[in-house]
Amino acid sequence: MYEGDIASVLISEEQIRDKTAELAAAIAERYPNGAPEGDLLLVGVLKGAIFFMTDLARALPIPTQMEFMAVSSYGSSTSSSGVVRILKDLDKDIAGRHVLIVEDIIDSGLTLSWLIRNLSTRNPASLEVVTLLRKPEATKLEVDVAWVGFDIPNEFVVGYGLDYAERYRDLPYIGTLDPSVYGG
Ligand code: PRP
Ligand code: MN
Ligand code: MG
Repeated sequence: MYEGDIASVLISEEQIRDKTAELAAAIAERYPNGAPEGDLLLVGVLKGAIFFMTDLARALPIPTQMEFMAVSSYGSSTSSSGVVRILKDLDKDIAGRHVLIVEDIIDSGLTLSWLIRNLSTRNPASLEVVTLLRKPEATKLEVDVAWVGFDIPNEFVVGYGLDYAERYRDLPYIGTLDPSVYGG
């Protein structure tokens, strides 16, 4: 599939599976009896987080519920501008709920820092973030991310939810995109 477009496998299916189990165990420690004020609420950020969200939910040993948000940052497709627009908001009120934002990747961190500010104003009982991937730029940010799967180099990665021009999300692993695809 996608013959020639993927330069290398950065993180294999097995590595993703192992890391997800590890993260799930760490997250479960933070919510020892589940979330007392109703189940832990996973908030997935469409569309990139879908596969990680569903795998994480099934790996977690505590009951969870799922909500999704879709946001879009204005600007070019390869970098974020920091101006974020809600394309699809949460269906439910999160006041008093224990909320865990689930992201696939933090790159500039702009999407996430905006999202944290936005969801904080809705008065959740707690608000944490788990991301499968984090790029170097994001480590400079003051964004408090409780759980990070992998810190990865500053390369264009696709697969397991991550896209380039909406393609490659369906790859079961995370790979680096061959520069020929984006005209490099
Ligand atoms: C990607 C990724 C994160 C965000 C990270 O989403 O899934 O949500 O960008 O970038 P940042 O840290 O620089 O803000 P994208 O906007 O491409 O939408 P998608 O999830 O639908 O692909
Ligand atoms: Mn996304
Ligand atoms: Mg994208």
